[in-house]
Amino acid sequence: MPDVLIRQMTQAEFDDWRAAAIRSHADEQMAAGNWSPDEAEQLATEGHDALLPGGFATPGMLFLAADDPEGDRVGILWLSETHPRGIPDCGFLYDIEVAEPYRGSGYGRALLTAAEDELRSRGVQSLGLNVFGDNTAAVRLYETSGYRVVTQQMLKSLT
Ligand SMILES: CC(C)(COP(=O)(O)OP(=O)(O)OC[C@H]1O[C@@H](n2cnc3c(N)ncnc32)[C@H](O)[C@@H]1OP(=O)(O)O)[C@@H](O)C(=O)NCCC(=O)NCCS
Repeated sequence: MPDVLIRQMTQAEFDDWRAAAIRSHADEQMAAGNWSPDEAEQLATEGHDALLPGGFATPGMLFLAADDPEGDRVGILWLSETHPRGIPDCGFLYDIEVAEPYRGSGYGRALLTAAEDELRSRGVQSLGLNVFGDNTAAVRLYETSGYRVVTQQMLKSLT
């Protein structure tokens, strides 16, 4: 695995990431047919703000950045020390993202390992996450890192 230095995001990095994350969440929900284009941005913003009432400083939420040895930022992590459905002693991986030019070189696995180490050091005993079934790279990363499916949503187009 490549070396990465894990650090807190800066406020400016958080602000940029938040805007991009809201846009991407809105796009995903539109692509899944859940939200219409006129409501997507607002619903994504509301959902985000509900999870992060204190923004960057929301208790129990961690916003981390990963730099390579040259100091270039290769990815980010959004972690929670608690699970959104209240599973005891279980943290949650809300976001893991490797910058596009760095994908496929082991950084995703390095970030996931760093996320697990960070939460373990805070007394968290397991880690949950959500992933879209068609996100092959992410699904493979999780499967080969020891994650197993615990709930599954299914959908069939009727048109
Ligand atoms: C998912 C993501 C973090 C993986 O990061 P990465 O740096 O490309 O992954 P790595 O190089 O560490 O690869 C780790 C494993 O992922 C899987 N993988 C990575 N890219 C893959 C691809 N294009 N196709 C299939 N599997 C892939 C492989 O199992 C790989 O292990 P291997 O190299 O031993 O075969 C990255 O693709 C990403 O940022 N995607 C956009 C954001 C995202 O979808 N995040 C997940 C939200 S749930």
